[in-house]
Amino acid sequence: MTAVGASLPRKDAFDKLLGVSKYVDDLVFPEMVHIFTVRSQYAYGKLIKVDKEEAEKMPGVLGVVTYEQIPGVNEIPLILKDEPFLAHDYVRFYGEPIALVVAETYEQAQNAAAFVKVEVEPLKPVLSIRESLEKDSPELFNNPTWGKNVFAHYQIIKGDAEEAMKNAVHIYEREYETPYQEHAYLETNGAVAVPGIEGSMTLYGTMQCPTYVHDAVADAIGVDRNKIRVIQTTTGGGFGGKEDFPSVVAGEAAIVAKIFNRPAKLVYKRDEDILGSSKRHPGLIQMKVGTDENGKIIAAQINYYMDGGAYATITNLVLWRGTVHALGPYECENITVMGNGMATNKVPCGAYRGFGSPQTIFAAETLMDEIAADLNIDPIELRRRNCYKLGSKTSTGQVLDQSCGLMETIEKAEEQSGWKAKWAKPAEKKGNIRKGIGVSLVYYGVGLGANGKKIDRAGSSITIEKDGSVMCAIGNVEMGQGARTVLAQITADAIGCKYENVHILEIDNALVPDSGPTVASRTTFMSGNSLMLAAKELRPNILESAAILFGVTADEVEVADGKAFLKKDPNGKTFTFPEVCMNLYLERLKPCAYGWFKAPTTDFDFNETGQGDAYFCYSFCTNIAEVEVDMDTGTYKVTRITMAHDMGKAINPQQVEGQIEGGTLQGMGYGTTEEIRHDANGKMLNSSFSTYILPTILDAPELNPIIVEHPYDKGPYGAKGLGEVPLMGVAPAVVNAIYNATGKRIRSIPAKPEKILGLDK
Ligand code: MTE
Ligand code: MOS
Repeated sequence: MTAVGASLPRKDAFDKLLGVSKYVDDLVFPEMVHIFTVRSQYAYGKLIKVDKEEAEKMPGVLGVVTYEQIPGVNEIPLILKDEPFLAHDYVRFYGEPIALVVAETYEQAQNAAAFVKVEVEPLKPVLSIRESLEKDSPELFNNPTWGKNVFAHYQIIKGDAEEAMKNAVHIYEREYETPYQEHAYLETNGAVAVPGIEGSMTLYGTMQCPTYVHDAVADAIGVDRNKIRVIQTTTGGGFGGKEDFPSVVAGEAAIVAKIFNRPAKLVYKRDEDILGSSKRHPGLIQMKVGTDENGKIIAAQINYYMDGGAYATITNLVLWRGTVHALGPYECENITVMGNGMATNKVPCGAYRGFGSPQTIFAAETLMDEIAADLNIDPIELRRRNCYKLGSKTSTGQVLDQSCGLMETIEKAEEQSGWKAKWAKPAEKKGNIRKGIGVSLVYYGVGLGANGKKIDRAGSSITIEKDGSVMCAIGNVEMGQGARTVLAQITADAIGCKYENVHILEIDNALVPDSGPTVASRTTFMSGNSLMLAAKELRPNILESAAILFGVTADEVEVADGKAFLKKDPNGKTFTFPEVCMNLYLERLKPCAYGWFKAPTTDFDFNETGQGDAYFCYSFCTNIAEVEVDMDTGTYKVTRITMAHDMGKAINPQQVEGQIEGGTLQGMGYGTTEEIRHDANGKMLNSSFSTYILPTILDAPELNPIIVEHPYDKGPYGAKGLGEVPLMGVAPAVVNAIYNATGKRIRSIPAKPEKILGLDK
């Protein structure tokens, strides 16, 4: 291995630095029209009438599109298909798209939108999980199995939690709440649809899941899938927010392009993007945990409610992950978890880095801290007594039989943070400015797991060119996380060429079959493995070509790091990789191959017990956060975070550190400042970056990423997955540090100063 394990420069670095990358809004096509969305001004109501007349007379306007004109079906093809592209009978959240104004320029479309008259008969909206659960709440959704307003339900039942709770020496019952979180990717959502030959359509857009967009566009305009080409443009961040939502934008752009037979662009401004696109689900988590006299957990009962918003989108998948991970990485033989995704009249929620688990991790890791405080045990020691080790059984009864580096992450983080010297009981802390330190542990099932196993596959192709350069097509996307870089590194070593010679094509569904979504930190593992399979098919031909050049048999030669040599004489005569490749063509050996990788086996009993091998492998991490709190004002600064991660194998250590640092800051924002607020009618109040408070570089603490490698035997070169883990456990580590500094326990994030002062809950 020469590429894998090295901190090679990013493939996309220079384009981005020099400003030559083309984002979707940079694309311009002849005759292109512009779209502006007319949105609901009510959180809930009956849609009576849309009067387009005046708007259609405005300068530059070509028309106003409402649901009746949709050429295909008015149904976004996500799991439950309950969401329309454009509202038709009801409006179900403030900001829901009702009509599309189409004009020659963006400004003309935007101006005319104000003249579309929408008549709505308002209904009383449901604005929280608690309201949705009420007996006499309006029925927003009817689940035939689980009842009113339940989009999804999952459960885990292992042992007998109720019976075991009776034997507990200590019982802790607590309730925790978590807010919406906005992805705040730098590039807002957008798509351009371009009509092509014979009824075909090409879709350009910023996205994580070209395959979802493919389905959505085909359905929206009512054509076969072979007529739709989806090309992912350089994507300025996704973080889960471009999993489900691009289906909406791309579908709507395609509808307009089809109707007017002209290229159509729909790109959101920031306020529309925050108002209308999916976010992290708010959570309500009720925990009851029983321990023995030493703090060993013997029983757990957990209720997890998620606020799904007005439509189900991918609440099913997000809820399942949160339910499976609800107790955190702790052994417990008797556990019941009930997870419910509830319907409300707010913006629909979807994926956000961590996928439903940061909510339950906040609850579980805060509770662990509460238990440690009550039992007078060092919080790290309590975690050591309970946490997963090699051979442990998870909540779903899965045995962790390899690649479990959690204990090592604890040891490294404890040592490098200086925990032992810094941690002291809150009661011992004095003065106006108080320092505190807090810890959290995370485990994370890599990939889609048993709940997504039918779509957990990935394809790719590799073509070797005559000059020794290598061209790859993959099915998962680059969105900033470094996929193009690590996949090129894996390919280089698997082929035996140099990293510089590998080029990955822009993502295009015409090149690779449906490879599932770019989510769940699955790309390195899934696309990486599929490239390994393609490379494996090519290797005999490459060796054969080299052998012919040397005049020996294929088993006598080696090709690695861009050159061919004789095994028995590695420092002797060599041929360059380009020479080998030119000869490959002259010998007419096959220069291209497809890889198709199916995720390793998973299983789960969805009906009763929730037991089974939920994910094929797990990544682990320990976060230790340090804070300084001003006791007069309740304001505080996060001064340092130490994060030790086991991701199997770090394919590119520098990129791994970048992922850890970026994710940690998002997790810090989640715990400290970020929240979406609504008024009493369900109108969102802070859809801008001046009112939605994100940490900036000035708030960034000293970050200390630590790489711990416990390889997984089915991973490409041992890699598991990393992308989401850095965000997931930061909030509780910060909140536990605040407790350690002040003695004030915070059970609902963000941890605002008024909560620390006890002025707000
Ligand atoms: N890093 C950057 N820079 N930009 C992103 O949009 N998305 C995160 C994470 N890291 C993201 C990111 C999320 S939500 C996921 S699921 C993973 O990257 C996906 O990438 P992977 O499958 O390559 O791990
Ligand atoms: Mo990531 S939330 O799985 O896109």
